[in-house]
Amino acid sequence: MKRVLTAKDLASMGIGAIIGTGIFVLTGVVAHEKAGPAVCISFIIAAIVAGLAALSYAEMACLVPIAGSAYTYTYATCGELMAWIIGWDLILEYLVGAATVSVGFSHYLQAFFKDAFDWEPSSKLMSAPFKYKDDAFSKTGNYFSLPSFIIVILLTILLCRGVKSSAWVNNVLVIVKLIVILVFIFGSAKYVNPDNFKPFVPPSTGKFGEFGGSGILRGATVVFFAFIGFDAISTAAQEARNPQRDLPIGIGLSLIICTMLYIATSIVMLGVVNYTEIAGEGKGAPFQITAAATGQKWLSIFCEVGILAGLTSVMLVLLIGQPRIFFSMAVDGLFPEIASRLHPKYKTPVITTAIAGFICAAAGGMFPVDLLADLTSVGTLFAFFLVHCSVLILRWREPDRPRRFKVPLGPVFPVIGALTCIGLVAVDSVSAIIRLVVWMGIGLIFYFAYGARHSKLNNPERYARTESLQVIRESHYTTEIKDHEGNLEVKGAVA
Ligand code: ALA
Repeated sequence: MKRVLTAKDLASMGIGAIIGTGIFVLTGVVAHEKAGPAVCISFIIAAIVAGLAALSYAEMACLVPIAGSAYTYTYATCGELMAWIIGWDLILEYLVGAATVSVGFSHYLQAFFKDAFDWEPSSKLMSAPFKYKDDAFSKTGNYFSLPSFIIVILLTILLCRGVKSSAWVNNVLVIVKLIVILVFIFGSAKYVNPDNFKPFVPPSTGKFGEFGGSGILRGATVVFFAFIGFDAISTAAQEARNPQRDLPIGIGLSLIICTMLYIATSIVMLGVVNYTEIAGEGKGAPFQITAAATGQKWLSIFCEVGILAGLTSVMLVLLIGQPRIFFSMAVDGLFPEIASRLHPKYKTPVITTAIAGFICAAAGGMFPVDLLADLTSVGTLFAFFLVHCSVLILRWREPDRPRRFKVPLGPVFPVIGALTCIGLVAVDSVSAIIRLVVWMGIGLIFYFAYGARHSKLNNPERYARTESLQVIRESHYTTEIKDHEGNLEVKGAVA
């Protein structure tokens, strides 16, 4: 791989993957239900946790001489079981994350129809049939969110035919997103009413996680979603010109820029619209609600168009990631072999792309944004906890292995990072933690029932001759396969 990326390129890549439903939708939800105007503090806490995670992720990425995801790195360094746990967990980040973004897309599409064409399609086919409040599902009276479903299916078809993410498109979308946010901030700032900040931290409702300090912390868990995607930077570590210097700068720069934008956005938004009004039943597009409150229709439409484009790009990044992980797991024998087949013409992992796309589209059509975002955040936090642990384990087991990038100050940052990740999981609701445990439990059952018995590591002789290996060797989705002594046999790129 060519080492061409500078710190600025890395930062731009990060911003492209980071800004999405988190800021465009969740800011309203979290302010309304958890933190009030203090949601900006939740963003700062989440940014610190994300920054520490990005550093450890970058060290892992630089240990393994291929492009890949946390799954690939862990497989090559910590072995199959740990990799399985991370890979299974990453489904929450990529697949459920993309579903979350698709719900945000649907909210802004509705707002756009209304503002641009004065058309309000029936909510029956535009919104989720369930909502989730106080640890229980209830019916909303709607049937399905068709826009969420359709956009994911369209992107999936595009990906099956083989779409390459291009730096040029990414740069344009980064600029679009930055312009939308800046125009929103400057276009609304003069309508801020300081009374809306009183109280800045609304008193606790008596329930942990609803307003008060605990609301800010729980809000941080949910808005952690707004930083997901920073791993894209670490994934590009191999292509960095000078990783030891450029990676921390690139990660730091993109997180600082996003955090500043998030803070400014949330302050302006909650200064214009009271936190009690910014979200709730039928109010899923806080940028539109704020712009409408300023009485500037052009601002609403301008933001909606930019946001729809921005959200599409985030979905694309997440939807590209998920099938590649399924694919790598199938190549390693942890999923049935059929999942590792490539499309004969397009050379894309078509089966895993289609399966992941369909599940994602269905989830986006059925579930509310806050539930999906919570699941994604908690899952991703746990995955990054494991990444911090992997860094520490490897430092201890293989201290002399060359690292193109090493997190400075010894184990300090990975240890603090691991604690903060698990801390944010711990402050989430008991039901969220139970969902994570159940998900990981299902994963372990699947591993021991199928993966452990069929894996390449446990059956090296059987796999050495398989046809799929041949296909894999030839394709550019080639993953890394180790022989039974742990030596690398095949190297290549997985997104
Ligand atoms: N961080 C991305 C978003 O907020 C996933 O949409």
